[in-house]
Amino acid sequence: MKIISSKARKSCDVLIIPFWEKAKKTESAVSVAPFRKWIDAPIRRKDFSAKKNETCLVYPKRQKEKRFLLLGLGKKDEATLDDIRKSYGEAIRVCLKKKWHTVSLLFPEKTKFPREKVMKAAVEGACLSNYVFDKYQKEKTSLVKSFYLIGCTPKEHEIVKNLPQLAEGVFLARDLICENADIVTPQKLGEVALDLQKISTKVKVRVFKKKDIEKLKMNLLLAVNQGAKSDPVFIEINYSNNPSSKDRTVIVGKGITYDSGGLCLKPADSMLTMKDDMSGAAAILGTMHALIKLKPKINVTALVPSTENSIGPNSYKPGDVFTGMSGKTVEIVNTDAEGRLILADALSYAVEKIKPKRIVNLATLTGAIIIALGEEISGLFSNDDKIVKSLKEAGDRTGEFVWRLPLPSRYLELLKSDIAEIRNCGSRAAGSITAGLFLRQFVKKTPWAHIDIAGTSWQKKAKGYSPVQGTGVGVRLLVEWLEALSEKK
Ligand code: BES
Ligand code: MN
Ligand code: ZN
Repeated sequence: MKIISSKARKSCDVLIIPFWEKAKKTESAVSVAPFRKWIDAPIRRKDFSAKKNETCLVYPKRQKEKRFLLLGLGKKDEATLDDIRKSYGEAIRVCLKKKWHTVSLLFPEKTKFPREKVMKAAVEGACLSNYVFDKYQKEKTSLVKSFYLIGCTPKEHEIVKNLPQLAEGVFLARDLICENADIVTPQKLGEVALDLQKISTKVKVRVFKKKDIEKLKMNLLLAVNQGAKSDPVFIEINYSNNPSSKDRTVIVGKGITYDSGGLCLKPADSMLTMKDDMSGAAAILGTMHALIKLKPKINVTALVPSTENSIGPNSYKPGDVFTGMSGKTVEIVNTDAEGRLILADALSYAVEKIKPKRIVNLATLTGAIIIALGEEISGLFSNDDKIVKSLKEAGDRTGEFVWRLPLPSRYLELLKSDIAEIRNCGSRAAGSITAGLFLRQFVKKTPWAHIDIAGTSWQKKAKGYSPVQGTGVGVRLLVEWLEALSEKK
């Protein structure tokens, strides 16, 4: 997809014209003198009242654009930048359905936000929405090829020009989540990582195989892998674009390519979405893809432990005790609490071998976080207030919201084992918190945050700028956060 800035209007399939909803009448968000003739009727006849995400199609005569799509932005004082992002996303989904390939965009004027921020949000929503996973559909969708930004100055163009590359990172994550688990195996994730090395000299990738994982004594990852057909992998991607600095950030993603629950088998309904249990890994790969394209001056290492959590004669068992890379003994109480086990070994690797300044891990870790925060806010758990603040800010700027929950040490009680140093889960109470407390045991003193994306990584229906199923959440959050880190120095 291309982004083309233009002073004048262009010949194209459709022009998107934004409007605000008003108590008495509809207020155009742009100056509408040139369109008046065509837009008055639907507004006067109340066919269009500019409610948030409402659209209305009109057919002008002798205009450059074949159609106008009126887009409702809701009430002007209430709209946030993320609302604008979502509205433009909804408008583009209308275009996808109709197979319009060239789309011109107008942007709301005189809002309470700086114009470039409004424009960035709108174009970002449009780009992110220009996606479909239709491999298994008979009828294919065709995507928008060019977005014309009408009235976008060269300075404003600088701000939006990289958005398609950022979107590519998000799309990579979505593709990996939506595809069958038997195609997106641990080995496949390894191949995707190795492909990143081909497109940049700043990137070094290593895919550890089962033998290497045994040598590293990652016995928790190996335990989860016991029931699986495919071997596990452990992926390390080093992005180094600030050689003069020792500062390095580690990002880790849970890569369970399918979570059946293991011997503690999930009920059928809960299993239906479990190909998405590698969404953390997908977000990490998407983030690295975007970093390679955007080239911020930072050093980042991505780690992905990956295996399927399957059921079979070799499956690891409730009651088993394993000693992971850290040397800590872990009693398995529930084989469905597998994510924290493979993450524990990855966090141990980060702390022992990489010794970074900070670690952030992303994981579809607990069903409980969906109950707590729903589909639009990820859970944030951390031992470091500074990381919390910067992640919260990056979340607010991107619309990939996070909300901190506590990690009270008194709840460590719930993870006490009679036979080992720790057990892999507590009871139902505070399920997301005990998962976070489990992970905290493995980062020692390193500033760290865990983001539980079990609720945000998957959508039952297309909404805003996100399609059905894999949302690719985490990519924009991490890119924004890492870029902000690089600007601070
Ligand atoms: N992958 C699941 C968490 C999950 C649930 C993600 C629903 C997306 C939607 C995780 O491995 C899991 O099974 N967690 C258990 C933990 C429990 C056994 C302590 C859960 O949340 O029920
Ligand atoms: Mn599980
Ligand atoms: Zn899982």
